[in-house]
Amino acid sequence: MSRIAYVNGQYVPYAQAGVHVEDRGFQFADGVYEVVAITDGGFVDLEGHLARLERSLDELRIERPMTRAALSVVLRETVRRNRVRNGSIYLQITRGAAKREFAFPAGIAPTVVAIARHLDWNKAAANAARGVPAITQPDIRWGRCDIKTVGLLPAALAKQAAKEAGAYEAWLVDEKGFVTEGSSSNAWIVTKENVLVTRAPTTEILSGITRAAVLELAKREGLKVEFRPFTVAEALAAKEAFVSSATSYVIPVVTLDGKPIGNGGPGVVASRLRGLYETHAANHSSDWQAPFISP
Ligand code: PDD
Repeated sequence: MSRIAYVNGQYVPYAQAGVHVEDRGFQFADGVYEVVAITDGGFVDLEGHLARLERSLDELRIERPMTRAALSVVLRETVRRNRVRNGSIYLQITRGAAKREFAFPAGIAPTVVAIARHLDWNKAAANAARGVPAITQPDIRWGRCDIKTVGLLPAALAKQAAKEAGAYEAWLVDEKGFVTEGSSSNAWIVTKENVLVTRAPTTEILSGITRAAVLELAKREGLKVEFRPFTVAEALAAKEAFVSSATSYVIPVVTLDGKPIGNGGPGVVASRLRGLYETHAANHSSDWQAPFISP
């Protein structure tokens, strides 16, 4: 079955799917995106993702191409046409196409693309059961990491370094030696006192939707949370560490730069939160969805 992409109002086979050569996403990374998990044919925390998308667009003064309801219809239709039951949807909106000039061109329409793909959630679950290695990399990104832009080159370089080191994720470290987040996930530790520590959502990190869900689940478990930066040394001295993202859910990090965290295996707290998140993700009729926590 050929894959179908949504491109600017039409559902087209991949071979015919394309955008303009002067699209500003291509020339300036002048666009934003979202990745939403799909389990058993339903979206996970869609409302939170769409709320964050709207904020990303507003921050960059890119026109919202359609209402949230209309966008949901497009996403559902893209999933349906690709017969994806388990996987993810990628939605990208750029400022549009125009003759190359740095300042915003007047009167152009945003480019909207949606792509659905299959994912084997068992693979993520297997990673979670084993725990994964992470490495550290300098955070060389720009000053507005709260906006989910397609300017992902620093993240791609960090992820490549992780891959070459046999690691799952790269934890990005700021100039003061504090971990900001993963190249495509939020970073957490659990201290010896069983306190969850994760950075406050500022302009230095992306306020993850999965992170918001995990915070709610942690609250319901009665866990204590501190919103503050932590150093690499503190992570290495922690009882547990883990990452959260739409496509990873919760995955324990068991080594950092080759050194074990805690006992070098998945921790109790991270494993419990993953279990709770899996249930939340599977429960599409749940009475709550993770919100977008605005910086
Ligand atoms: N990445 N931080 C960064 C830099 C990210 O790119 C992501 C998500 C997250 C986690 O956010 P959420 O829980 O809302 O997925 C944090 C997606 C999955 C990606 O780029 O593929």
